[in-house]
Amino acid sequence: MTEVIGYEVIGDIAVLAANNPPVNALGHAVRQGLADGIARAEADGVKAVLIYGEGRTFFAGADIREFGKPPKEPFLPDLCTRIESSPLIVVSALHGTALGGGLEIALGSHYRIAVPSARMGLPEVLIGVMPGAGGTQRLPRLVGIDASTDIITSGRQIKADEALSLGIIDRVEDGAPRDIGLAYARELIDSGAGRRPVSEMAAPEAVDFDALYESVLKKARGQIAPATAVRGIQACCELPFDQGMKRERELFMELMASDQRQGLIHAFFAEREVGKLPELKGVEPRTLASIGVIGGGTMGAGIATAALLAGLPVVMLEMTPEAAQAAKERIAKNLGGALKRGKISQEQFEQLTEKALTLATEYDALSDVDLVIEAVFEEMGVKKQVFGKLDAVCKQGAVLASNTSYLDVNEIAACTARPADVIGLHFFSPAHVMKLLEIVVADKTAPDVVATGFALGKMLGKVSVRAGVCDGFIGNRILSTYRTAADHMVLDGASPYQIDKALEAFGFAMGPYAVADLAGLDIGWAVRKRKRAEGLHPKARDASYADKLCEDGHFGQKTGKGYYDYAAGAKARVPNEEVMPLIEAERAEQGITPRDFTDEEIVRRYMAAMVNEAAKVVGEGIARRPLDVDVTLLYGYGFPRYRGGPLKWADMQGLPALLDDIRRYAQEDDYFWQPAPLLEKLVAEGRSFDDLNKEDAA
Ligand code: COA
Repeated sequence: MTEVIGYEVIGDIAVLAANNPPVNALGHAVRQGLADGIARAEADGVKAVLIYGEGRTFFAGADIREFGKPPKEPFLPDLCTRIESSPLIVVSALHGTALGGGLEIALGSHYRIAVPSARMGLPEVLIGVMPGAGGTQRLPRLVGIDASTDIITSGRQIKADEALSLGIIDRVEDGAPRDIGLAYARELIDSGAGRRPVSEMAAPEAVDFDALYESVLKKARGQIAPATAVRGIQACCELPFDQGMKRERELFMELMASDQRQGLIHAFFAEREVGKLPELKGVEPRTLASIGVIGGGTMGAGIATAALLAGLPVVMLEMTPEAAQAAKERIAKNLGGALKRGKISQEQFEQLTEKALTLATEYDALSDVDLVIEAVFEEMGVKKQVFGKLDAVCKQGAVLASNTSYLDVNEIAACTARPADVIGLHFFSPAHVMKLLEIVVADKTAPDVVATGFALGKMLGKVSVRAGVCDGFIGNRILSTYRTAADHMVLDGASPYQIDKALEAFGFAMGPYAVADLAGLDIGWAVRKRKRAEGLHPKARDASYADKLCEDGHFGQKTGKGYYDYAAGAKARVPNEEVMPLIEAERAEQGITPRDFTDEEIVRRYMAAMVNEAAKVVGEGIARRPLDVDVTLLYGYGFPRYRGGPLKWADMQGLPALLDDIRRYAQEDDYFWQPAPLLEKLVAEGRSFDDLNKEDAA
């Protein structure tokens, strides 16, 4: 008997208590413990077995850390079948999150009871696989094809009451899982209830599974796991249980061997690693009970909304009472969205807008807040003025944060007498929706200020990434490079529309030109003007066709025209017919003979530029680890999660081939395509980006 599964007999009920913190993942020892526990219960002559989890949850799934390693017996599907075929009555009592293999253990049990707060689901597709221990064979037998397809292909978590009404569980009861489970088992014994194996229930009638497969495939935008899981449900309907289990296993193993599985599991662990920084070990964040926001435009209002929703009182500072009122209206509109979606009640809405939010037009109003974020105009002079005033009014120990997206935080910090308290907190718009937060650490930022930035990110439900100071930090710096690679391809013969299509087929939510239209072409215009004013390198390629679009008042979606014409709506994606003539004129002016690009070449060049810049960002220490870049691109830039992030993608492609491509492109343009020293070093040493992630964790 292994200690991760406790064994105890109470009357004629054997109790198997899982004790494998933090989430009772079904690793080898746990599986062995359960198999041993069932056998021991049978030998002990009890009538029923109760399975439950100690700590915060029932089994939250298979142990993902074992994925990709040779599996060890007992395998999970066999264990579920072993539990189900026991002659004893088996009851599972669920609390916390009974996910994946955890729910499959429960489905292998004969009866299921849960506490009201329990959640359950089969989230395997979210990590690139599918249920592999009977989930696709047992769940449809309980809830039918529609509900099981929804649950399995979305991976969503289901609350106990919904699970009860669907028939996944038999009962919901308040109490400790051990107590409600024991009482239920007792009641079942006393009432003479028999075993109730799900595998012996009738399977649903088959439907047109090819059509279902195609529709799920289309919805998943390039991800294969959800559609593959449909084939598992199909097997449930068309094959006897044992053969269905075999088919499920085959499909599961196919997915297990896929790059998408590797990408998604990398994403899962990377987003948990990203906040674990050696420099923060043992460092306590400062008190964070109230914040101030300066500037109530889209960004400031979004930040204030996120803070209010997290329970933080907010002082919103604007220049005039009218501007403050407009900021309040923006915040109320954002909160109205949360109200509509049922995230907050009318009462909470009123409390947040009328009590938790304070409007102000004088800096003195910020004298007592624990942290201030400015979201004012993106110009160094303006920022310096703001920080000068903050330095004068804020209490000692207050954190002074700038929401700048590219300015030098060291320079901002230097205009205060307390640079150790200054930090960059780069939110992404809309700030109450987008999950990414770049925490920009300047040379003198104190460790507990960094810790406070991470604490704020956590309170707001963000995924926070540490970044060093440079133009654009991690995300916008890399974006600027891959956008430039795309612009070069446009000059050389590809159309913006072909580029968008190729990258969307690769898995990006939107191609770069559709994104530019959404963000506003005036942003890129301003950056180009700034860079030209600073002086372009003589070898840097430049183009002015996009400036002409802006000069004509076309800023993208907000003006109805940009690269696309939005008269027929954003979804129609009609190219703006003024664009190609402008591009052609530019090519002619620059003496470029356009050439054809394949979609494959477009993706390759775009990704090579992204990876190369990312390697520079890691090499220079702007990002601490490759995984920090991956998480940034996944959460802020629409990078397809199933590819893991640009540097995970690069590892899976093979770094030597990628470096070869970059060197080949450099023969055309040795200014833009300068190989990153870190990439060259990794190739020379035969190592990968992921090796660097592991080095850091060790
Ligand atoms: N296998 C291995 N480790 C797991 C795990 C699993 N299935 N699920 C969670 N963990 C680990 C996390 O990596 C984390 O480890 P860390 O503290 O070293 O970073 C720890 O357990 C806590 O998880 P975390 O996600 O931080 O806690 P949470 O309370 O926010 O969420 C879950 C808990 C279970 C909802 C969430 O972790 C989850 O969704 N896990 C995956 C579940 C899953 O996909 N199961 C199906 C697998 S077949």
